[in-house]
Amino acid sequence: MSSGLVLAILISGSGSNLQAIIDAIEAGTLNARIATVVSNNPDAYGLQRAIRHGLPVKVINHRDYAKRELYDAELRRHLQSVAPDLIVLAGYMRILSAGFVRAFENRILNIHPALLPAYKGLDTHQRALANAEKEHGVSIHLVTAELDDGPVLLQGRYPIENGDSVSDLQVKGHQLEHQMYPAVLRWISENKLVIDDNGQIHYEQSLLENPLQYSA
Ligand code: GAR
Repeated sequence: MSSGLVLAILISGSGSNLQAIIDAIEAGTLNARIATVVSNNPDAYGLQRAIRHGLPVKVINHRDYAKRELYDAELRRHLQSVAPDLIVLAGYMRILSAGFVRAFENRILNIHPALLPAYKGLDTHQRALANAEKEHGVSIHLVTAELDDGPVLLQGRYPIENGDSVSDLQVKGHQLEHQMYPAVLRWISENKLVIDDNGQIHYEQSLLENPLQYSA
């Protein structure tokens, strides 16, 4: 069997999405290889998860760089040396410069804890609760130079129930995320989901007009 998709996974924190991807690869349900796990945060727990599974890790601490462009240039050098098919942002909490996004155009995915285009940015759960939303969710999208703005490949939804707290929504969201990211990567590895050179998404050979909806 070929080693499949070559992934670079970028994290800043706990890395539970990274863990879900590792688990899918180890279970044989995702034909991929993680070529590097990069964190801007030296204390990210996800680094320990990666090391435990024998994966190469790289810390590029943003505090060591005076400017975003300098940081991104170092990140870019590292990723180019690894030559991934896809860069997978998994709780990577930094904005990427336009130059970086251009260098890996149509090859960067992000997972965001909201039903984009609603609730871009931070504190999505707090804001959804403050607005008395009845539904919330998760989006996996292609990264463009605009924050949380690229075409959405897949969305997963869950209800907000009376009395739900921020941490309740985090739990519901994470449960979906841990199924959705491996699923999207599997579909890409099988060529069922294709991102073309113009950034258009095709699912089972048809142009995707609206995000796919995840059902467990
Ligand atoms: C995830 O819930 C992800 O959606 C969110 O960070 C969390 C990381 O969890 N990402 C963003 O908010 C990006 N704007 P993890 O480190 O346990 O995978």
